[in-house]
Amino acid sequence: MKYQNIILLGGSGFVGRHLAIALAQRGYQVTLPCRRPHRLKELKVLSGIHLIEANIMDTSILSKLCRHQDVVINLVGILNETRRNSFRRIHVDFVKSVVNACQENKIQRLLHMSALGADQASGSSHYLRTKGEGENLVHTFGQKDLQVTSYQPSVIFGPDDSFINRFAGILKLCIGIFPLACPYSRFAPVFIGDVVNCISDSLENKESIGKRYPLCGPETFTLKQILQMINAAQDSSCRILGLPDSLARIQAIILQNLPGQLFTLDNFRSLQTPSTCSETVSQGKTSLTHYIQGLPHHYSRRPSYDYYRKQIDR
Ligand SMILES: NC(=O)c1ccc[n+]([C@@H]2O[C@H](COP(=O)([O-])OP(=O)(O)OC[C@H]3O[C@@H](n4cnc5c(N)ncnc54)[C@H](OP(=O)(O)O)[C@@H]3O)[C@@H](O)[C@H]2O)c1
Repeated sequence: MKYQNIILLGGSGFVGRHLAIALAQRGYQVTLPCRRPHRLKELKVLSGIHLIEANIMDTSILSKLCRHQDVVINLVGILNETRRNSFRRIHVDFVKSVVNACQENKIQRLLHMSALGADQASGSSHYLRTKGEGENLVHTFGQKDLQVTSYQPSVIFGPDDSFINRFAGILKLCIGIFPLACPYSRFAPVFIGDVVNCISDSLENKESIGKRYPLCGPETFTLKQILQMINAAQDSSCRILGLPDSLARIQAIILQNLPGQLFTLDNFRSLQTPSTCSETVSQGKTSLTHYIQGLPHHYSRRPSYDYYRKQIDR
């Protein structure tokens, strides 16, 4: 192994928790700075993972954290803006700080998580444009001293995801009709295990340097088809009613002003871009259809803790 010490930024999130376990299992020492380490009890039991409470948005703290690290992995991202955290702050300004921290500490390897459809110039939403800008930034500024690889996943599914689980929860509670915005938006959902394998495999692979990997699963669905599969798996009688764009926009304006921001106008704009790969590019082998068929089993906290325990015991 060429590298030993990895700092995982955004490691407390859905992808980060899975990736931290996978990297520790491969023998790396993973430093995971985050805002609320007490929430990550399931990671504390692994000796290769070092949880630190830190504000990584502070550039001097970030640079200090990167000292003695061989690799930086940046997974930090947001789906919705808040007053303090704009897309620009998180997807562009923070990425600049990450690149600077790499340069200050002579770190040679940076892995960066972008998103499918990210495009600085013509992304359909502010989310996709800023994701594209951050991605271009790491590749451009990284060229001289940094060996950069970036990843562009479609929507990611797996235990504890916030996509399938969120819809499963809503559909379970729904009585009658569920009004669905953008029912014909297209996705190629990719399994978290496949995403984590792709990132871990590319870490030491010279051929991945400078590459941008689109990450898709083996199947393509419309959003409505995914919800129908969840409904069938849960035996829910809720009817899914696709909304025309005019009504979807109104729904977004209402929901983005409510606590939790379940759906925003920027989300609506992101959904105008198909989140699918060309047929030749499919990194993931795991089928969403099979996964959802086991959904009543996945959909509770207990099995997801069991899942983590199994990963740890391996
Ligand atoms: N999940 C998907 O379907 C999907 C699809 C395409 C692209 N992506 C990209 O993949 C990456 C990981 O996604 P995910 O699903 O794991 O997201 P997630 O669960 O929301 O995790 C996001 C991570 O970013 C951190 N973060 C966000 N704002 C922060 C701030 N102001 N200060 C410090 N930390 C901050 C979060 O820390 P806290 O835990 O402290 O909040 C968390 O560790 C993101 O860049 C996302 O855009 C994900």
